[in-house]
Amino acid sequence: MFENLKPQPADKILALMQMYREDPRDQKIDLGVGVYKNAEGITPVMRAVKAAEQKVWEEQESKAYTGLAGDPAYSDAMINLILGDAVPRANIAAVATPGGTGACRQAFELVRLANPSARIFVSNPTWPNHVSILNYLGMEMVAYRYFDAETRGVDFGGMMEDLKQARPGDVVLLHGCCHNPTGANLNLVEWQAVVDLINEQGLIAMIDIAYQGFGDGLEEDAAATRLVASSVKECLIAASCSKNFGVYRERTGLLMAISQDAGQVGLNQSTLAFLNRQNYSFPPDHGARVVTTILNDADLRADWQQELEEVRLSMLGLRQQLADELQRLSGSDRFSFIAQHRGMFSRIGAAPDLVEKLRLEHGIYMVGDSRMNIAGLNVQTVPILARAIVDIGI
Ligand code: LMR
Repeated sequence: MFENLKPQPADKILALMQMYREDPRDQKIDLGVGVYKNAEGITPVMRAVKAAEQKVWEEQESKAYTGLAGDPAYSDAMINLILGDAVPRANIAAVATPGGTGACRQAFELVRLANPSARIFVSNPTWPNHVSILNYLGMEMVAYRYFDAETRGVDFGGMMEDLKQARPGDVVLLHGCCHNPTGANLNLVEWQAVVDLINEQGLIAMIDIAYQGFGDGLEEDAAATRLVASSVKECLIAASCSKNFGVYRERTGLLMAISQDAGQVGLNQSTLAFLNRQNYSFPPDHGARVVTTILNDADLRADWQQELEEVRLSMLGLRQQLADELQRLSGSDRFSFIAQHRGMFSRIGAAPDLVEKLRLEHGIYMVGDSRMNIAGLNVQTVPILARAIVDIGI
């Protein structure tokens, strides 16, 4: 049997992570995988996470199974964080999932179960694993224009034109904030136009929100998701705690299915629980419990928000420093988009051979489509990156 297996395509982000680890040079810079690093190059455990873990360790008396949906207190706390009071709780079905990836996977499976002929409209580009999972599940995908290679902003006209091709029941996958991989985002007026189009054409909205708090602030980054969730008939929201709580390896995510028809929610909830049971039975609990502990304790929550804000501001500072440095070295404004982008990533728009040159000649690692992780930089490495970008002629 095993001889029938074929090598699967490597995930380009994870392959790059491996190449970086194997590079013996001291001067290398990792701008690949989306992991936050502080000025010392460390991905720290956040203060509130440590404190909450201690609390859980002291207070937890059993590790017996929770429910198939995970602990309801976790869903409640996360729904509150993401949606505030934008949608009545009675309209929301929710389950804990293994990370945001698990939430995306369950969302796609739910779509396939409910409407096997639905096509999923994905931004071009999108997170490569969206495409990989959809391919694996055999679901039809349609790419919509998103990134304007000239301005490095959103090609909003192209996006709307392409979304107009969607048929009733098709799903539009949107990034709630901090678009991965480009860093280019819609403004709220544009979001409203997308919502109108979704409603006019009878489409289903799906939002992947993995970077709440990394862009313009916790509330600001949730604004688009809240707008969509409160304005469309049905939507799916896949959320991740990996980045904003720094609990990457704990696999902590949430999937919501929202319906304006509260009578539908019982069936949505039992379907989500069924999908969990088929795929991995009970979702992981430790990360979810830590997140719940933080969100439900005023002091821990305040400390978490403060640290998250420090992370956000440090990334914004690095963006500005890099844009300024590039302006100084190149004598042009063509890199000013780096300061306008939001979140962990910016796609700088370099050809793959130049990205490879950065790696080979300067030990600077970014994803082949020229996505760089801003949080992989620090004040010392920004000038090194800027010099390399200008030297190789990007
Ligand atoms: C990324 O895009 O780098 C992160 O979301 C990590 C991953 O799993 O790809």
